Amino acid sequence: MFELRICSGVHTITVPAQEGQLVSELLQQNIPSFALPCAGNHTCGKCRVKMEGMLSPLSEGEKRVLSQEEIENGIRLACACTIAGNATATLHEETASKIIAWYQTPDYPRTETGYGFAVDIGTTTVAVQLIDRETGTILAERLAGNAQRGYGADVISRIEACKTAGLDTLSDRIADQLEEMAQECLQETGITEVVESVVTGNSTMLHLYEGLDPSSLAVVPFDVQSYFGCFSRRTLAGAPVYLPRCIGAYVGADIVCAILAADVTGHGTQLLADIGTNGEMALVHEGKLLCCSTAAGPAFEGAGLSSGMPAAAGAIRAVKLTEGDAVAYEVIQNESAAGICGSGILDALAVMLETEVMDDSGYLELEEEDAEAWPVGDSGISITQKDIRQIQLAKSAVCGGLLTLLEKEEVSVDEVSRFVVAGGFGNTMNPVSAAKIGLFPGGLQPKTAFIGNGALGGAAMLLMNRSLREKASRLAQEAEELSLSTCTEFMDYYIDCMAFDTF
Ligand code: FES
Repeated sequence: MFELRICSGVHTITVPAQEGQLVSELLQQNIPSFALPCAGNHTCGKCRVKMEGMLSPLSEGEKRVLSQEEIENGIRLACACTIAGNATATLHEETASKIIAWYQTPDYPRTETGYGFAVDIGTTTVAVQLIDRETGTILAERLAGNAQRGYGADVISRIEACKTAGLDTLSDRIADQLEEMAQECLQETGITEVVESVVTGNSTMLHLYEGLDPSSLAVVPFDVQSYFGCFSRRTLAGAPVYLPRCIGAYVGADIVCAILAADVTGHGTQLLADIGTNGEMALVHEGKLLCCSTAAGPAFEGAGLSSGMPAAAGAIRAVKLTEGDAVAYEVIQNESAAGICGSGILDALAVMLETEVMDDSGYLELEEEDAEAWPVGDSGISITQKDIRQIQLAKSAVCGGLLTLLEKEEVSVDEVSRFVVAGGFGNTMNPVSAAKIGLFPGGLQPKTAFIGNGALGGAAMLLMNRSLREKASRLAQEAEELSLSTCTEFMDYYIDCMAFDTF
C-alpha cells in the first residue's frame, strides 16, 4: 500500500493508494468537487493535475491532450495516470475548494437531479456551495463571516440582540446574506435555476434564519420553538429550502449533518467533535448517541485573537521548530503572513510549551522584559497573553466536554475506535499539537480522522439524496442531549483541562 498526498487550495491530506489505482478515482473519493467531464475518456483535459512521485508512464491520451510545457511541469490527466508508489497531487486553483468545504462523506447514492445549494450557517462563518445534484460536482462556493456578527460573537449574545435590534433584523440579515451568496454562485456559473437547497446550522442559527423567537433557547428548560426537519418558510434563489432536524436547544442540525458525514453510527464506539464557535460533540456507544455542546468561542476560527484570521490565503497554518531550534512557519498559498488561523495557533502554543516560553498554566514567560508577545519567527505575527487565554478557555471547553461524554457512558479513551474532528480548521490541524496542548485527550490522537466541514458535507448529502432526510430526522429524535451547563462532572473537567497538558 502506498500513499497519495493531495494538496487542494488551503488543505492537504494523505490517503492510502494501491499500485495501479487511477489518480482520478482517489481524487473523486476524497474531493467531492473533483469532476471528470468526459467521464475519463482522455478528451476534455479538465482533470489536469500536477503530479509528483512514483507514477505510471505518460499514456497516449495524455501525450495527445497535454502540451510539451505542461508535461515538463509535471501536469498529468488524473483519469489516465496511475499510482506506482508514493505520490503527491496538487490541484489547480480552479479545481481546488478554496473554502472550508473539504469534506469526506461515506458512499451514498445520489438520487436527485438539477442544481441546489448546500449551506452551513455557522455562528461565525457561513459557507454556501452550489452543487450539481446528479454528479455531486461543486460548481461554485462562497465563504463569508456571518452577517449577524455585529450583534455578538456567540449564540447567547445573538439571542439577547433580538430583544434590542429585533428578531426580524437578525433574521433578514442572514437570509439576505445567503441570497447574496447564492446569487453570486449563480452568476459565476451562468446557472439560472435551482431545484431546492438544504440549510443547516445550530439551533439558534436556524431559529434566527426562520424568524422564530429564540429566547426560550437561553433559559431553563432550554426549549426549542421547532426541531425543524421540515421545509423553511423562506426560499433561496427562488427554490424551497429544507432545514434538517435539530437534537435540542444546544445540539443543532449542524451536528446531525456532521454525524451523517462522519458516518459514526453503527460501528463500535466512536467520538465526534465539531469544533467551531459552538463545540458540539457526539459519542456513539452500544447503539446510543449522546450529544452535548460547549461554548468554545470563535478563537479556533481566528476571531477574537490579536492576529487571528480564518484559514485563508495569508494565514499562518503551521508552526514548528527546526532542528536548530529556530521557529519555522507555513503560510497558506505561500503569501506573506497576514495573520494566524486556528491550526497555526495550536502549533504555536505547542512550540511555546516545548521551548518553555509558556508554562502549562498558560503564563507567557518572555526573555525580554518589555516584550508583550511571542513572535512567530520572522513572520511579523505574534501571540499575546490574551490570545493564549482565549485558546485556553476554548480548548478546556472542548476537552472537558469530550471527557464528560466518556464518563457519562462509562467509556474509556482506549475503548474509542475512531475520533472524528469536523469543523473549519479540523482538516489542517496537527493532531500532535492538539493533543500536546490538551485540546482533546491524548489517547485519541492515533485514532483521529479529520473530515473538514462535516455540517456542510452532511447538508450536501441531504441535498443529493432526499431519503437520507428521514434517516437524519430519526437519528436526531433518537439522540440524547446532555446539558453541560447543569453537569458537575463537566465543571470539574473544565477546570482541570485549563492546563496546557496532555490528558
Ligand atoms: S476526465 Fe476528461 S480528460 Fe480526464
